[in-house]
Amino acid sequence: MNAKITIIGAGNVGATTAELIARDGLADVVLFDIHDGIAKGKALDITEACPLWNSSSRVIGTSSFEDTAESDIIVITAGFPRKPGMSRDDLLNANAVVIKSVMEGSVQYSPDSIIIVVTNPMDVMAYAALRVSGFSRERIIGMGGVLDSARFRTFIAQEAGVSVADVEALVLGGHGDQMVPLPRFTTIKGIPIPELLDLETIERLIERTRTGGAEIVGLLKTGSAFYAPAASSVQMVRSILFDEKRILPCSVFLQGEYGLNGVFAGVPVVLGIQGIEKIVELSLSHEEMSMFNRSAAAVKSMIASLNIS
Ligand code: APR
Repeated sequence: MNAKITIIGAGNVGATTAELIARDGLADVVLFDIHDGIAKGKALDITEACPLWNSSSRVIGTSSFEDTAESDIIVITAGFPRKPGMSRDDLLNANAVVIKSVMEGSVQYSPDSIIIVVTNPMDVMAYAALRVSGFSRERIIGMGGVLDSARFRTFIAQEAGVSVADVEALVLGGHGDQMVPLPRFTTIKGIPIPELLDLETIERLIERTRTGGAEIVGLLKTGSAFYAPAASSVQMVRSILFDEKRILPCSVFLQGEYGLNGVFAGVPVVLGIQGIEKIVELSLSHEEMSMFNRSAAAVKSMIASLNIS
């Protein structure tokens, strides 16, 4: 029997995630959305592409939670984009309502699932998912660091004129403007980038990484990035589904690690069949640690304005 993955939200990120999973035949996919027709239409379109991909994945679209029953992994991409006149807190609480409703359905129908949270502001939505579900922290994982690190890798490879395959990057902290790219732990073929690129160049690439999402919004005008966010989610799905135990930067609920408590932030973790199997604690320099603390404090202040009952 194939594994079963539910994608909540059949918008750009959700549908692209479903497409990537089906294209590689990783699992059966349930695409769930409040707009039944959108979920069903996109699922049918992907289904009709499966013969061309030689994929045996079964893909269905639905707006009924019963159809998601006994999912192994649930990827949450549902939410509202920020609209003109909406404050950050308005968006946060509007999306928290969405998270609450979809988590209640997920807990009821897939009590053993592992949850990947993509909806922004992701670290705060992951916190809401943890609170609403009562799941252990190993099973609620935020997608942010994989995407931010992929962007950093892209810019480094372009600047150095080398293959992205030879660039490893580590971006920690909250998935927002204050994320913490770590040049010391970012390498080209194992060589830390401070040995290969000058400081000014590194600073420029860090800044581009921090504003990577906004750069794409500025170009698209009517939406936000979805190819790289979907591909990042699928890398996490693979590591869990096939127990690959990849070390990936993911947002997790910290309980003393990195000196922090009660907040989600991106740190390197081992991802396997149990979800988060280990949190890797790096020894950060004073400067790195203070950037990390600032970033986590920004997440904490958003958690404080969260209104979930
Ligand atoms: N239940 C299920 N689906 C919902 C709900 C809900 N309560 N509320 C909204 N949705 C659906 C919408 O109908 C829409 O199809 O979520 C989908 C969101 O899709 P898009 O607007 O296309 O957004 P997308 O670009 O996919 O981004 C989704 O991921 O990267 C983040 O910042 C991004 O938070 C955003 C999320």
